Amino acid sequence: MPAYAVIGGQWGDEGKGKVIDYLAKDADLVTRYSGGNNAGHTVINEHGNFAFHLVPCGTAWPNTLNAIGNGVVVDPNVLIEEIKKVHDANLPGKIIISAKAHIIMPYHVELDKLQEIQRGSSAIGTTGRGIGPAYVDKVGRMGIRMGELLDPQKLKTKLKNIVDQKNELITKIYDGLPINITDVHDSVDNWHEHLRPYITDVGKKTNELLNQNGNIILEGAQGTLLDLDHGTYPYVTSSSSTIGGAITGTGIAPKEISKITGIYKSYCTRVGSGPFPTELTGSKGDKIRQQAREFGTTTGRARRVGWFDAVAGRFSAKLNGFDSLVITRLDILDEWEEIKICCEYELDGKIIADFPIDIEQLGRCIPKYKSLSGWKTSTSGITQYDDLPKQAQTYLAILESELAVPIYLISTGPERNEVITLNEIVTR
Ligand code: IMP
Repeated sequence: MPAYAVIGGQWGDEGKGKVIDYLAKDADLVTRYSGGNNAGHTVINEHGNFAFHLVPCGTAWPNTLNAIGNGVVVDPNVLIEEIKKVHDANLPGKIIISAKAHIIMPYHVELDKLQEIQRGSSAIGTTGRGIGPAYVDKVGRMGIRMGELLDPQKLKTKLKNIVDQKNELITKIYDGLPINITDVHDSVDNWHEHLRPYITDVGKKTNELLNQNGNIILEGAQGTLLDLDHGTYPYVTSSSSTIGGAITGTGIAPKEISKITGIYKSYCTRVGSGPFPTELTGSKGDKIRQQAREFGTTTGRARRVGWFDAVAGRFSAKLNGFDSLVITRLDILDEWEEIKICCEYELDGKIIADFPIDIEQLGRCIPKYKSLSGWKTSTSGITQYDDLPKQAQTYLAILESELAVPIYLISTGPERNEVITLNEIVTR
């Protein structure tokens, strides 16, 4: 049976949490494959209202195992808190963590903040959660993996040297305060005690389930345009949020992935710095931001908002090989007189239909819009396509044709069942 990858098509915050909670009903395993607690996946279901940062979004279903894959960087303090919330809310889904996932150590969090200060006006606008420095150490082969928590004494000895080195960097290069090794050792004991039962070989479990015809969802975090290689570098996150990450971040063979679904919001948002051609500034932007409550789930920061960018959207669809789309938050556009879709850019006097690699070029792109009049009626909670106003159907048809990928699901509200199903994504 197949694996299904669910990937953000924009700059993150597309509504992956809600969609994965909905799809996980028919999944035996949901594996989060990249990022860390920079992500905030909102899930509203019969158990309550949750913002997950690390735990995958399939915990509401009793027969669904939830795995944190090797591609994720884990802040153990955040994970312990989150697992506690899952237990307190009596969420039935079980949780496992890859022994190969890397740990975000206190010095990573410190360095993330200090490096942002040093970048000054070129700051990336990171979430300050230590994500970048943890991935730097992973690539530099000096990271600490979750499996090492199983032997805390050995890990503590190893950490003594590493913390000394990191403190040189923190105090001498960045003028910060040193990390206390005793505190780090205490943390290791605490993490060992709380997380030991969850640490396992996620790749092996995945392959066992595939052999038993299990359904597997590969849960993306952030979005394609924040991908380390393919996003708007350097204003990106430090992991592979695209289809490549779904493979390397879980230990699944590519041929096992039978469907790749792209999640797009019906407009665009971006948090942090970097080019955003369709951005709406001023009162129009404020209006969408307030009405849609576009403030970060993780940091509370105001998200930048703008019109749907089909140039960027096509790029994401091609790169990931999306074969189905989910459009979320359609209801946010309900009150608008006019709705625009960017279908091409004008760059230095020339019309282009491709997403530029160079971010300075992207920053100079002027969006060329298709415009249609708004539907000015509520779509909130609609579950049948035929009940959508004609103009909303036209809008969706334009998105589908611009991205050249069929829409399978449309989300019309935050609750799990506020969804129009045109085609099933995950099937038994
Ligand atoms: P980092 O991932 O904390 O290093 O931040 C790098 C960039 O990615 C910043 O612009 C963040 O705002 C952005 N970012 C990271 N995670 C998310 C997310 O889950 N949603 C939206 N933006 C994110």
